[in-house]
Amino acid sequence: MHLGVNIDHVATLRQARLTTYPNPITAARLCIEAGADGITAHLREDRRHIQDADMESLAAMAKAGELHLNMEMAVTDEMVSIACRLKPQAVCLVPEKREELTTEGGLNVAEHESRMQEAVAKLSDAGCRVSMFIDPDKTQIAASHRIGAAVVELHTGHFANLSGERQKQECADVRQAAKYARTLGLAVHAGHGLTLENTADMVAIAEIEGLNIGHAIIADAIFKGLHQSIADFKAAMQR
Ligand code: PXP
Repeated sequence: MHLGVNIDHVATLRQARLTTYPNPITAARLCIEAGADGITAHLREDRRHIQDADMESLAAMAKAGELHLNMEMAVTDEMVSIACRLKPQAVCLVPEKREELTTEGGLNVAEHESRMQEAVAKLSDAGCRVSMFIDPDKTQIAASHRIGAAVVELHTGHFANLSGERQKQECADVRQAAKYARTLGLAVHAGHGLTLENTADMVAIAEIEGLNIGHAIIADAIFKGLHQSIADFKAAMQR
């Protein structure tokens, strides 16, 4: 199972003091050394964590074959043009609201099909494998398929915030969504709010080929180091 480590949270710590450290590029290198399969980074419109120069460096590393880069971005002309220039191997389109703490909810692909289709076409032409970050919802999966996306990343934030029976039900919904996406030929990723405790439920869903995890990995790394944190998540993801 592919582990994409989201390094935004390293950049958040740097931006809190507008220092040059901790450097997310160093973090990306350490993550790969520790066994991460790829690096995910979100260039937000408000540049609250990852900066343009970070994305340029990550893209240069990706181009040199040093890492697999998944660039998360909003569906805006500015971001599409940056991604088409940097050509990361993968792009994940996400909704973005300035006032949110993190990406809340999935993209409404069904309601904005033509705009999304145009972005997916441009990014795919640039050689990027495009993923749509959506809720585990059939309508959104079908729309993602119609507009030509190769991958859907199922939003697990809701699952992560629940407990007991309600979490079990949400997990079943993610499983159903993953199965449906596979029947359409879409690759399936999942992410948001995943921790060492709740990751097993996603690993048990055979249709999910990769997870993108950030906050819990970086949080655990404060106490045990990035190397151990990634080793623990990789171990939890063994099938
Ligand atoms: N996937 C997507 C599309 C995201 O926006 C995020 C959060 O930046 C993640 C995965 C990782 O979420 P978390 O930081 O909660 O692990």
